[in-house]
Amino acid sequence: MIYMSGNQLRQKFLDFFASKNHLILPSYSLVPENDPTLLMIGAGMAPFKPFFTGKLKPPHPRISTSQKCVRTGDIENVGRTARHHTFFEMLGNFSFGDYFKREAITWAWEFITVHLEIPVEKLWVTTYPTDDEAFEIWEKEIGVSPSRIIKMEDNFWEIGPGPCGPCSEIYVDLGEERGCGSPDCAIGCDCDRYLEIWNLVFTQFDRDEEGNYKPLEKKNIDTGAGLERIASVLQNKKSNFETDLLFPIIEYAASISGVGYGNSSNSDVSMKVIADHARSMTVMISDGILPSNEGRGYVLRRIIRRAIRHGRLLGIEKTFLVNAVDVVVNMFAEPYPELQQKKEYIRKVVQLEEERFQATLAQGIELLNKHIKELEQNNQKILSGASAFKLYDTFGFPWELTAEILSEYGMELDKLSFDQAMNEQRERARAARQENERVSIPDLTGLETENLVYNTKTEKASVIRMWKGGQLVDEAHDGEEASVIFDATAFYAEGGGQVGDSGLVEGPLGKMSITSAKKLPNGTIYHIGYIEEGIIKVGDTVKLAVDTGRRIATARNHTATHLLHSAMKNVLGSHVNQAGSSVGPDRLRFDFSHFTPVTDEQLLEIEEYVNNIIFESIPVNIMEVSQDEAKKIGATALFGEKYGEIVRVVCVDECSKELCGGTHVANTAEIGLFKIISESGVASGVRRIEAVTGRGAINYLNNREKLLIDAADAIKTRPEEIVSRVESLLNNVKELELSLNESNAKLAKIEVQKLFDTLQVVNGVQVITGVVSSGDMDSLRAAADLVRDKFECGVVVLAAASGSDKVNFVAMATKQAVAKGIHSGNIVKEAAKVAGGGGGGRPDMAQAGGKNPSAINQALSAAFDVITNQIK
Ligand code: ALA
Repeated sequence: MIYMSGNQLRQKFLDFFASKNHLILPSYSLVPENDPTLLMIGAGMAPFKPFFTGKLKPPHPRISTSQKCVRTGDIENVGRTARHHTFFEMLGNFSFGDYFKREAITWAWEFITVHLEIPVEKLWVTTYPTDDEAFEIWEKEIGVSPSRIIKMEDNFWEIGPGPCGPCSEIYVDLGEERGCGSPDCAIGCDCDRYLEIWNLVFTQFDRDEEGNYKPLEKKNIDTGAGLERIASVLQNKKSNFETDLLFPIIEYAASISGVGYGNSSNSDVSMKVIADHARSMTVMISDGILPSNEGRGYVLRRIIRRAIRHGRLLGIEKTFLVNAVDVVVNMFAEPYPELQQKKEYIRKVVQLEEERFQATLAQGIELLNKHIKELEQNNQKILSGASAFKLYDTFGFPWELTAEILSEYGMELDKLSFDQAMNEQRERARAARQENERVSIPDLTGLETENLVYNTKTEKASVIRMWKGGQLVDEAHDGEEASVIFDATAFYAEGGGQVGDSGLVEGPLGKMSITSAKKLPNGTIYHIGYIEEGIIKVGDTVKLAVDTGRRIATARNHTATHLLHSAMKNVLGSHVNQAGSSVGPDRLRFDFSHFTPVTDEQLLEIEEYVNNIIFESIPVNIMEVSQDEAKKIGATALFGEKYGEIVRVVCVDECSKELCGGTHVANTAEIGLFKIISESGVASGVRRIEAVTGRGAINYLNNREKLLIDAADAIKTRPEEIVSRVESLLNNVKELELSLNESNAKLAKIEVQKLFDTLQVVNGVQVITGVVSSGDMDSLRAAADLVRDKFECGVVVLAAASGSDKVNFVAMATKQAVAKGIHSGNIVKEAAKVAGGGGGGRPDMAQAGGKNPSAINQALSAAFDVITNQIK
């Protein structure tokens, strides 16, 4: 075996595959490009997915890389085993429809046994059980003894949807002394004896989102060898952490904490966690990730905060992680020189995050320890979601960190109720946001507004004022809402009925999402939004990017609003005037003076008028002229609006000329299509039309069509026949109702007959109590009427269940029976009581309801007792 540093090994691998005619590429960024299925690159092959599936042509059919990877699925194991990492480098050689199993296997063996000189007798291999081809190559061509080729069911490699296939792995036996001692210890055992160093994947399928495996036209090779693992073998170290790829960070942690490495297993775990996480965070930040509460930014935050907590466990009270960046940058100077260039930036990001978390860590830990003690005292094991939420919200503890600390005490977190608390907070924030918008302008004394620039092309600007909840601040952190004034802006501010622009602001240390732009009373534009990642500060030079898709959709609706105005005057008459409008990206709303509902024919005519102008493809001209000039050319001004001396007039030929400061399309054809979706009254003499344009119109029509198709499907017909089918169904329903009524009437008569079979005479009063089938009060009353009419002197009590939780009662008595003491009201009152309800009424007729149909017979026998008592 040849001793090699990590850097030498990496280079040796790439040189070897260059000699086998591979194109050597630098590592791709950890942030996947155009791959929404992956949060971060976690394998050497991940950036090459489109080459494997044949969607893109690779620059060369053979490529080799050493790829930066992050995997966090096993983060709890990091530091506890010899080989788990969040960040690692994967050495890989790839063939895109070029060589296949034979070459991949031969070269891997050659590299390991000849160039690294790892002794053959230490090596084992595995194959997929049905992969006879790979087995034969290993046995017949390489000469590995069949007893050292293990067939493994789980030798199939995939990473989300995409290219995948059976694989074959190479293991090094590190010797019995590294094993667990169990008689079953073999390849696949969790202990440290057999170390997998290389995985050869025979990529021959493409897995879709549904989990179907489609054979690929061309077979590929994807291999992955763990740089840190092989280094540990060559450097004869017990774990990856002791190789030169990680150990300098351990030494740094040891020197800062004053705790020696090897002192105790707990402190060793903490140092290893710091070593691993320091590498991850440095490379993640260098690749453009910033701490935040979402996605990749959250992974980074969790890693940084976890490392800080382990620093605490080592007794480090001050900030320390920021200097670990220097150690990592030095170690990686050769393979990743860009780290050196970005060092100050990376340090700044770590420092801000570290200071932020340090400030609350001690208090948070204290609170969590208190919870843990309480749980122990009460013999409980589950921490409430509300307590975990407080740790998150007040002390910045990622919930995973809380869960991990709990698990060290054999406890758990109630994740469900944590999520609930989290959702409630989101709701509160949303409500507060709306509230804030109305009240949050701070004191801006001293703001020089003369130099502020409004220019649609502005891309660079400086942050000159910033406020949160009405208070001026110097900076805002991720997750926080803020309003900002820049010295220059391209954002259109809400006004003239048009919504403000939204978009993105990119600063040196953070990103802000702008949800709207508005104007202060003096015309200064401010931007409302929230910090998505990192931090935005006053003085930052930032890049502004307006959401152009939203801006264009809004412009379509705005120009269409002008055309609609003109169409209305033409179709409905010149009395129509705009009484208000609201133009957004999704739809436009136009309020106007008019006294009767607009008829369907008029709406069609208006729609056609607007669409004709769109189809004629007329340029939209914007002029700046004096007010007099504007009047002269007949431009429409809105009643009640204030205009300056020079006004902006938006003209569409002779069809429309309006004073307006909004954003518009350059040509009516850009509107695409105009569709009215509603017409309604909003106040006396004011009506409202809502309409959509462009993609919005197409979506609207598609949704309508889908409704029609779904409705047709539901009644088993085609959309073309839906009207006649509905008519015939309605006729059927009418006929069925008629015949049902007839049947019910017949049934009621039969039931009444049957009731007379139970007739009893008590002291000369005929008494019938019974259950009937038809449950509603009306039919019950009708049945009781029929019975009573047949009595000379009698009382009838009928009950019927209605559904599973309701029962109705009716009692009726003849005059003679009432004269003998019968009181229907009192009878149903008692009956209903038994069935969990109440009611009452007159002596000759009463009704009541209960909730418990299963007590129906008991209720009736109670009624019978009341009757016998009444006529004793
Ligand atoms: N893509 C394979 C792995 O990550 C080589 O193991």
